[in-house]
Amino acid sequence: MSATATSLSLDALRARTRAVIPDLEWEAERPLIEAIRRLKAERQALILAHNYMAPAIFHGVADITGDSLALAREAARVEADVLVVCGVHFMAETAKVLNLSRTVLIPDPRAGCSLAESITAADVRALRRQHPGVPVVTYVNTSAAVKAESDICCTSGNAVRVVESLGVPRVIFLPDRYLGRYVATQTEVEIVLWQGACEVHERFSGAQLRGLRVEQPGLHVIAHPECPPDVLAEADFVGSTHGMVEHLERARPERVALITECSMSANVTVQFPDIEFVQPCNLCPHMKRITLAGIRDALQFLQHPVEVDATVADGARQAVKRMLAVR
Ligand code: 13P
Ligand code: SF4
Repeated sequence: MSATATSLSLDALRARTRAVIPDLEWEAERPLIEAIRRLKAERQALILAHNYMAPAIFHGVADITGDSLALAREAARVEADVLVVCGVHFMAETAKVLNLSRTVLIPDPRAGCSLAESITAADVRALRRQHPGVPVVTYVNTSAAVKAESDICCTSGNAVRVVESLGVPRVIFLPDRYLGRYVATQTEVEIVLWQGACEVHERFSGAQLRGLRVEQPGLHVIAHPECPPDVLAEADFVGSTHGMVEHLERARPERVALITECSMSANVTVQFPDIEFVQPCNLCPHMKRITLAGIRDALQFLQHPVEVDATVADGARQAVKRMLAVR
C-alpha cells in the first residue's frame, strides 16, 4: 500500500501532479476532485484505488492505493461506513466478501476483467473431478463464485508463496495461463493450467521488447507476470504492480519500460521524478471505466452497491483469508 496525496491541499496536489496531469485536464478535474473530497467526508467513506487508476483518481481522491494484494489486505482491515472501490468488479467483490455488513460501491459495475470472464464455478467443479484431491489455487482476478469453489486465492504478488504454502506436489492454478506458467518456472510444484489470459498483458510481445532495446540502449524492462513467456524472457525484472515499485526503489534505473497498464507509469512518475518512463504500455478498457464523475455519483447517490450471496461470500472469504494468512 502507498501513502496517497488525498490529504494535500488542491494547490499542493497540483504541484505534485503537474508532470502527469496536463493543465486543461486539471481544470476539468479540479471541481470533481473537490466534490469527491467533500462527499467522502460527509459519507464517512474510504476510497481504495488500484495502481491502474488514472492519475487524478490515484493521486487526487484515493485514501488507499496499491496492487490487488494490498487492496484485499486493506479491505480486510479498514473501518468505514462506505468503501468505494476504484478498480474492476472482482476487486469490489473481494472487498464486499471481507465486509459483508458494510456498503461497498463500484463507480461502474461494467468494469469487468477478461480473466474473471474466462472461468465459472462449474468449470472449477469439473476440474476437481478431473484431478481428484489436487488443491485449487485461484488468482483473485475471478468472481466470488469461483473463489468459493477454491482452496486458496493468490495474487501476482504472492502466487509462488501461496502455491508452496500448500506443501503438495501438484496444484490446479486458475485462470491465468501466463501467470501459471511463470509460477511453474519459480517452483518445483507441478502446475495444472487453465486457458485464461489478461487481454491487456497478452498483447505485448518479446519481439516488441527486442525492438525497443535497440531503439533505447540501456533500457531497464520490468514486466507483469500476466505477460506471455517471450515477454518475461526479455524482462530484467518480473513482478506485480507493487513488486514493480519496490524494484524501482531498490534498483533506481535511469530509463524504464513498465510492461503493463499505461496508468502505472504515470502514477509512479510522481514518486520517481528522476526516472524516465518510456512506452510501450496498453490501456485496460475495464479499469478506464472508472472516472472521477463516476466516483462523485457513487458517493452522492450511493451507487452501485456490490452484493454477494451469503453462502458464496462465506466460501470466497475462506479462500481469500487463507491467502492473507500466507506470509
Ligand atoms: P496486481 O496489481 O496485483 O499486479 O494486478 C494486476 C492486474 O492486472 C489487476 O487487474
Ligand atoms: Fe483484467 Fe487485465 Fe484489466 Fe487487470 S489489466 S483488470 S487482469 S483485463
